[in-house]
Amino acid sequence: MQTVLVTGGAGFIGSHLVPLLAGRGNRVRVLDTLAPQIHGMLTGRELDWLASTPGVEFVRGSVTNEADLRTALDGITAVVHLSAETGTGQSMYEIDRYCRENVQGTALLMHLIANGAAPNVRRVVLASSRSVYGEGAYVVDTDDVTRITPSSRTAEALRASQWEPVCPATGAALRVIPTREDDRTAPASIYAATKLMQEDLVRIASESAGIGHTILRLQNVYGEGQSLNNPYTGILSIFSTRIRRGLELPIFEDGLESRDFVHVSDVAAAFLAAVEAETPANCVINVGSGVATPVIEIARALCRSFEAPENVRVTGQFRLGDIRHNVADIRRLVERLGHVPAVSLSEGLKRFATWVSRQPLPEDQLGRANEELARRKMMG
Ligand SMILES: NC(=O)c1ccc[n+]([C@@H]2O[C@H](COP(=O)([O-])OP(=O)(O)OC[C@H]3O[C@@H](n4cnc5c(N)ncnc54)[C@H](O)[C@@H]3O)[C@@H](O)[C@H]2O)c1
Repeated sequence: MQTVLVTGGAGFIGSHLVPLLAGRGNRVRVLDTLAPQIHGMLTGRELDWLASTPGVEFVRGSVTNEADLRTALDGITAVVHLSAETGTGQSMYEIDRYCRENVQGTALLMHLIANGAAPNVRRVVLASSRSVYGEGAYVVDTDDVTRITPSSRTAEALRASQWEPVCPATGAALRVIPTREDDRTAPASIYAATKLMQEDLVRIASESAGIGHTILRLQNVYGEGQSLNNPYTGILSIFSTRIRRGLELPIFEDGLESRDFVHVSDVAAAFLAAVEAETPANCVINVGSGVATPVIEIARALCRSFEAPENVRVTGQFRLGDIRHNVADIRRLVERLGHVPAVSLSEGLKRFATWVSRQPLPEDQLGRANEELARRKMMG
């Protein structure tokens, strides 16, 4: 049995992981600010599960505040670090806040651990992101062999609707392949840069303090409990609100950009395995489904899950900092953590739509978020 601190444990992934950890007999302490951008204006009922789950203690506070962190770390044997600001587009203009929350928060956490605030801590598990890869891995289409990790697409290429990355040396067409953990990292957004910095802080400080670490690079996580209020993140949340309001789903680029959608219960299972593994993995592990799904396809599938018309429109617009494709090579997840993703996309979407239908209908905030990006010339 462990005493686990879960930072950001009141959020989407935490709301699945915390009961799972507690259900296995671990004591769990959640440190969370209950950030309004994620939780909306709380009415008091939404977080009943935190108070009512046996073995779970809640500390309202911030990883950027030393006193809060010291309280939260007291008596802890393992840390799962989930808290972060997560909006890719928003990070491009709220640079200072993203660095303070994501980088400085992680630095303070590791600083206190390194300096004896939690002498019994044996491992730190970090939620990182596939965004650290930037465009991820490709092969040259004509030979199917030469492995390439191209740079971010330029604003000029996007303005010319050249959506697919090309070989930087020859301009040849590329085909996306599953990205491996040892592929090049090349963050294309401030958010991604902060996640990579978090990884370095956790790895280096853990090694120097003689404790274990596991870094999970999550693909696009979706499912019951994801914030329906945060207009800056979660494509399926944003689309679900528009479907419920009878609004069309605008799809960026040509709709064929793809993502690896992984259900939150598979992600929570991977974190549980990382906490419980006899020896910490001491490495990076991709967490995804291993399947690439075009955005237009997921939009249509989501409409079907709500039994709504497929009201989908490809706009040809784009956001600077967005990647074209990414899909995880999940062999290490299976080999090192023994987890094989179990929830298919159709089953996961069904569960998500059923849950969403029972939630209060949020305002559609997509227009506001896009206007903000357009005003800052981050969108074309
Ligand atoms: N959901 C995804 O698709 C996804 C993909 C890749 C990586 N991740 C990473 O997984 C982690 C968890 O993501 P999520 O989807 O559960 O996010 P979320 O936004 O639902 O939850 C984050 C939680 O952290 C809390 N928080 C924010 N700032 C804090 C602070 N300073 N101190 C304490 N708590 C704070 C928020 O109140 C919230 O409850 C993040 O680190 C994110 O970068 C998520």
